[in-house]
Amino acid sequence: MRTVKVPLGNRSYDIKIGSGQLSRLGDGCARLKLGERCAIITDTNVGRRYAKPAYNSLLKAGFNPCLVTVPAGETAKSLRSVQACYDRLAAHRLERKSFIVALGGGVVGDPAGFVAATYLRGIHFVQVPTTLLAHVDSSVGGKVGVNLSAGKNLVGAFYQPRLVLCDLNVLDTLPPREFRAGIAEVIKYGIIYDADLFARLERDLPKLLQRETKTMTEVIARCCQIKADVVGQDETESGLRAILNFGHTVGHALEAISSYNRFLHGEAISIGQIVAAKLSHTLSDLSAKDLGRIVDLFQRAGLPTTAQLTPRQRVKLIAAMRLDKKVSDGEIKFVLARRIGKVGWGQRVSLASIHKTLANIARDRS
Ligand SMILES: NC(=O)c1ccc[n+]([C@@H]2O[C@H](COP(=O)([O-])OP(=O)(O)OC[C@H]3O[C@@H](n4cnc5c(N)ncnc54)[C@H](O)[C@@H]3O)[C@@H](O)[C@H]2O)c1
Ligand SMILES: [Zn+2]
Repeated sequence: MRTVKVPLGNRSYDIKIGSGQLSRLGDGCARLKLGERCAIITDTNVGRRYAKPAYNSLLKAGFNPCLVTVPAGETAKSLRSVQACYDRLAAHRLERKSFIVALGGGVVGDPAGFVAATYLRGIHFVQVPTTLLAHVDSSVGGKVGVNLSAGKNLVGAFYQPRLVLCDLNVLDTLPPREFRAGIAEVIKYGIIYDADLFARLERDLPKLLQRETKTMTEVIARCCQIKADVVGQDETESGLRAILNFGHTVGHALEAISSYNRFLHGEAISIGQIVAAKLSHTLSDLSAKDLGRIVDLFQRAGLPTTAQLTPRQRVKLIAAMRLDKKVSDGEIKFVLARRIGKVGWGQRVSLASIHKTLANIARDRS
């Protein structure tokens, strides 16, 4: 078992990574001295498999849980499901010391965290992520929220969990496409922060794809450590934290123009990172060799590196990017790589360069 600490003063918390964490949920919450009433928020796929062990673990530790199940899928990350959760919390009479357990991937953790941030002006919450993407990214760092039809994550808050429990066993049932989508965020950490991690991924990708326990534990712990370092220095994204958005400006726009149902988040940001890497080569210092290594690793992971967009879709994509929160004063700001392991943020990129790169990747064949 590995523990990573997110250093945020009196709001610091632990991320515990290992096999069997789910059964320790009740004990973990008891140690935090949380109130008796609580709610597990999960989705239909995850609930079917893991709600019972989570529920029983809480019960055994003396808590009084209720179970709230939202539909699975990105479209459920909405104000409508948040409203449904509030109603259930009120019916179960959750109070100020009560807490929420977010049991699922990012599509559960983001809105469940938002519910926790806003219900009674804030109650505690614990993350039990069940996808690779949520283990390495969405469950850590306190960004919570929902989508609007106009764009991703347009409503939300910064609100930190009290504890994150990453149980490797639950990843056994994650469909291969979802697992690969999580690898897109793992590769991101290598590009933005850690050349050694990137080199390890080049070496150990087959072991990771086979979900070998030792490799998964070490890689997930490293990603969480990087996220903890970044969030510890810049919790509310006034600077450094922006590096975590590498590939996300284009990625989020791709998700929005395809109504959140063509690409998984990880797939969209895989394409987004390829666009960002190509822009980094033309506009910043990224060498052709590093660009080639980046494209190669995404391809080997079975992630998309091209998008066949029509000129009309490209125009829609640019319009969606303008709505993204990373756009200010009509300028599109990008995180660009200088080399593998080092990026700069806030770099202004012209619409013409973006158009050109999008047209180029539409022609590439992977
Ligand atoms: N808050 C953040 O900092 C942050 C960071 C990155 C991504 N995100 C958000 O996370 C979301 C994507 O999350 P995700 O990729 O975890 O997707 P997800 O939550 O939709 O999960 C993927 C699918 O797998 C199913 N599933 C989850 N765990 C399972 C398991 N163990 N076994 C079988 N099936 C399982 C789910 O029901 C769903 O159908 C996006 O909305 C993205 O914007 C947030
Ligand atoms: Zn992401």
